[in-house]
Amino acid sequence: MKKISGLKCVNCGKESALAKVRYVCPECSGNLQVVYDYASIRKKLTRKALAKNLDPTIWRYLDALPIRGLKHAVPLQIGPTPLYRSRVLAADFGLKGLFIKDDGRNPSASFKDRAGAIAIARALEEGEKLITGASTGNAASSLACLASVMGLRTIIFVPQSAPVAKIAQLLVFGATVIAVEGNYDQAFDLCLQATAEYGWYNRNTGYNPFTREGKKTCSFELLEQLEWRCPDKVFVPVGDGNIISGIWKGFYEAYLLGLIDRLPKLVAVQAEKSDAIKRAHETDGVIRPVSGETIADSISVSIPRDGQAAVAALRESDGFAISVSDSEVLEAIKVLARAEGVFAEPAAAASIAGLKKAVAAGQIRPGERVVALITGNGLKDVASAMKAVGQPHRIAPKIEDLRRLIGALDRPGAPL
Ligand SMILES: Cc1ncc(COP(=O)(O)O)c(C=O)c1O
Ligand SMILES: [Zn+2]
Repeated sequence: MKKISGLKCVNCGKESALAKVRYVCPECSGNLQVVYDYASIRKKLTRKALAKNLDPTIWRYLDALPIRGLKHAVPLQIGPTPLYRSRVLAADFGLKGLFIKDDGRNPSASFKDRAGAIAIARALEEGEKLITGASTGNAASSLACLASVMGLRTIIFVPQSAPVAKIAQLLVFGATVIAVEGNYDQAFDLCLQATAEYGWYNRNTGYNPFTREGKKTCSFELLEQLEWRCPDKVFVPVGDGNIISGIWKGFYEAYLLGLIDRLPKLVAVQAEKSDAIKRAHETDGVIRPVSGETIADSISVSIPRDGQAAVAALRESDGFAISVSDSEVLEAIKVLARAEGVFAEPAAAASIAGLKKAVAAGQIRPGERVVALITGNGLKDVASAMKAVGQPHRIAPKIEDLRRLIGALDRPGAPL
């Protein structure tokens, strides 16, 4: 493919030809980054060309995507997702410009559709009939959703503890679902073994170099929605680190292509016990396993699979990492929903929890323009949301009972 000049290892820096490798670095097994011929793309992917492009979805960025054409482009609406200018939270946090990017509005209700679409197009361009993946839930449900439309079979590995809505999505979309009696990391390793044994096409995060390419479309889209005014900081919930490294790649490529002339700082938000990337960033850059336990299942990761690229994104953007507790995440679900009308799953609400903490710690200046990325819809995990909000009032279907309840609620100090 002419637009791709090679695949560069994020660990040892070796560049390999696209035709020579499929997944990881042949030298050191490090993850690979797609490198493009930016000089030629620069001539095509201009602000002017984008303004004239009538396709609103991620496929408008085809010139900078690792696929030959649109023959295998999933025909569902992946992007653009809403970018809301916050009023209530912005005022609460004392910020001049706060924007909420609701990626839970993609077809399978998470950010992962951006990546799944690219992995599927790659698989089909290579003549594959089956695609596999391990996931905390969203990457898999996205894959199952998009692959069903494209007639590709999916075999999915998830930890047995994945929220039931995500498993329901998988089954509804017709995936063969293998619920592994173990955590995400074990499901991931088993999926890699299965790939080696059966030769299936693998979409695993970090391992497949093309997922990052789909994820970067969010940055392009965000910049267009902000009319090319680059934000100062972008808050990203982080587990494996593939979203944040994709987001960084998107901004950096926009800069290389001359679409913007400055770059934002990225903020990685991790759960307290799932903070391997934060620890690495704040010490020697080396990823070491952590317990990974958190209510935010999508960012529950012991060994981040794209940790090196995530640490590089933080370093190169001069950003920072912050960790949040489960109770801060639950509180953020409630706060975001009530202030902005956006229902986020726990991992997605982590960006708001992280933002609140960063503001309190003086890590954000009031005049800054900040984006919080909401990566998955709250309906994905209602059991966790219920922990944040309690139960409804239960009464008999009688007007007297209702009067008694309303009377009690009307009392000063009673919760409404
Ligand atoms: C809703 C949501 N937020 C955040 C993440 C974290 O992305 P990454 O694992 O690439 O850091 C995921 C990944 O599963 C996710 O589904
Ligand atoms: Zn290498």
